[in-house]
This record gives sequence, structure tokens and C-alpha cells, in this order.
Amino acid sequence: MKFCLNHFLSAVSFALDYAENDVFGVPLNHGKRVAYIAWRVGQRIGLGDDDIFDLVSLAILHDIGLSKYIGNKERIADFANYEVIQGHCVIGEQSIKKYPFLKKEQNIILYHHECLDGSGFFHISGNDLPLKAQIISFADYIDTHFQVNKFYGGYAERAGNKILSLRDRKYAATLCDAFLDLSRQPCYRLDQQPENIYTCLHRGLPERTVNLSYEDLIWMTEIMSDIVDAKSRFTWRHSKGLAEKAGTMAAFYQYDSVQRTKLVLAANLHDLGKLLIPNRILEANRALTEDEFALVQSHTYYTRQVLSQIDGFEDITEWAANHHEKLDGSGYPYGKTAAQLDFNSRLMGCLDIYQALTEDRPYRAGMSHAKAIGIMREMADGGRIDAGIVHDVQDVFGG
Ligand SMILES: [Fe+2]
Ligand SMILES: [Fe+2]
Ligand SMILES: [Fe+2]
Ligand SMILES: [Fe+2]
Repeated sequence: MKFCLNHFLSAVSFALDYAENDVFGVPLNHGKRVAYIAWRVGQRIGLGDDDIFDLVSLAILHDIGLSKYIGNKERIADFANYEVIQGHCVIGEQSIKKYPFLKKEQNIILYHHECLDGSGFFHISGNDLPLKAQIISFADYIDTHFQVNKFYGGYAERAGNKILSLRDRKYAATLCDAFLDLSRQPCYRLDQQPENIYTCLHRGLPERTVNLSYEDLIWMTEIMSDIVDAKSRFTWRHSKGLAEKAGTMAAFYQYDSVQRTKLVLAANLHDLGKLLIPNRILEANRALTEDEFALVQSHTYYTRQVLSQIDGFEDITEWAANHHEKLDGSGYPYGKTAAQLDFNSRLMGCLDIYQALTEDRPYRAGMSHAKAIGIMREMADGGRIDAGIVHDVQDVFGG
């Protein structure tokens, strides 16, 4: 299928930025701001459209390696921890190997914390540092130390003085000069506001489309489902488990490979919106307040918001985002009814319940197949979920 990378990248940046914020305490939208700064600096030093596109993609993905540490609270307790810092560069470089960049370049993410003087984690210096790695390292430094909203006045001067002291030592003079110029414009600050950064990146970037199979999309979207699963120890294998079951049911219903893959994609991404829900609520060891409960319920709304941006994902969005709707209209967030829920939406809803009931949680062991089916039958008898599908799930997973 023709696949628009821009739309996909905004979905990934949504996932990454929220996870980095909630788990590591990095101010929200870090990836997008680094991408913005890299883009504007890249433009000023005269990079062409394809290079800009790859630069911005890499900048959005630059901290992707952190996702492997999300579930490991001990290892990330100290974010400055050498292993995590160096490790996220190595893991990040590996995890984007198959990404369809326009140009074949390596070691950009690996060296995104390196500086000209060799003071980075790998002690790479001078001309051995690829230009895009230099730009991302520079943009990352700026957002980490001079995030626009931390300053109320005097931004260009304060950031500028510091950058001048690093010019030609840690960061190339051309990059520093581009930034000094840029940071004086009011739009530099306005563009990076939370309400503007998304549209701004979207509007400014050249649009790039590639040809991908649905199979390619499975590994590309695993970047996101891995982050969702890793985010909370309560649900660490939930999306993966659901995707496996969706694949099994697709085989049972003799779906062709495109339909099967789309269903698996929907399962991989169904809880994407949970990235917006803070872990202190997802993992609360007490009854939730009404507000907190409403927040948890909003996750499928955000799953829809993100996935519906991706062209070609219309079905996938429906199946993923309808998984908490019920046939009798008692579900959320839209209170859809039977006529509005197609077969795969119903299937996803049933499988999500089955997966949740049968998987282990820190506070309880997973239920047996029979017990889970008993509960689902009651729900089907009450007209809430599809009785035929419950019957099939019973057959397929009962053996
Ligand atoms: Fe980083
Ligand atoms: Fe970063
Ligand atoms: Fe859910
Ligand atoms: Fe779920």
C-alpha cells in the first residue's frame, strides 16, 4: 500500500513523547521540539528536502531506544545512568535499521549524544560525526537545557550566550550561528508551544510516501505497541497477547492475509491511547476517583485520534478504537450500538475481554479459560457482546 510516512511519524511521536514524559519525566513533546529545532537548523544550513525529511524522522525517533527501559524502573531510576544513556543510543540505532528512510545513512541515532570535541559517550569527534547526528545532538542539547517554556523573557540572550561558549568546541559554528539567528524570531518560541508544534511540523515538512506491505507495517507499528506494553507492569504483554489471539481467530475465520494482518495491526495498537494516562492512575492500588476513571476511559478516544491520522488505516482505526463499545450502547467513548459495530470491532471487543481476564496481573493470577468464558457468556446473554463470537472464542481457545 502507499503509505504516508509523515502521518505515521506523528503517531509514533505521540507514543514516544507521552511515554518519555510519564516514565522519565522529560517535558512533554521533547521529540517534536528536537525535530523542530533540527528541521529549522537543517533548513538554514541549506539541506535539501530528502535530507530534511530523514533528519526530522530521525529526530522524532531519536530517543526510541528508551522504550526498552520503560518497564524497568530500577534501571531508569537514575536517568543519567551511564548504561541507560549509552544503551538507548545502541538500542535506538538497532531498532530503526529497517525503517524506510529516504537515504541510507548509519549511526545517526547511535551518535545522537556525541559532540565535536569527543566528549560524548562513544568519544567520536570532528569529521567522524555524521552531520545529522551533530544536528540532532545539538537540538537535543538545546531542548534539554533551553526548553522554550522554561524561560520567560531573555531567551535568545541566555541561550545564545551559552551556545556562543560552546561554538566550534562542542557544536559546529554553522549550527550555532543558525540557532542564534533562529532563536531571535518570535515564531521560534510560538511554533514550539504544545498547541502549535504538531501542526507546525506537519505543515512545514515535505510529504513523503513509500510503498509498504501490511507485513512491513507490523514491525513498524511494533515500535508503538512495545511502548504501550512496557509502560505498565500491569499489562506488560497485553497488546502482544491480544495480537496473537487476533491472528489465531483470523485463521479460524479463514481471513486472507491482508485482512489477517490488518486485524493483528489493530490489536497491536488498540490501547495506544493509554500512553496519555499517567502510570500513577493505571497502576493505582485503590479505587479510582470519578475523574480518574473518566481519564482511563478516554484511552480509546485517543487511540482513534492518533490512528485516524494515518491514511489507509480506516478499518484498523475502527477495530482498534471500538474495543470498549458494547452492542447495547453501554460502552465507551461513543456509546455505539450493534448497528455501528462491524464484525471485527465486535471480535476485538471480545478478545480484549478474554485477554484481560486470562492474563496474570501483579494483584491476581489470570483466570482459567472456563471461568473467563463464563463471564463472557453472561455478558453475551445480557446483550452486551456478540454471543456467536464468544462461542467461537470458547471453541478455538478451549482445546
Ligand atoms: Fe537521547
Ligand atoms: Fe532526547
Ligand atoms: Fe482498552
Ligand atoms: Fe486492551
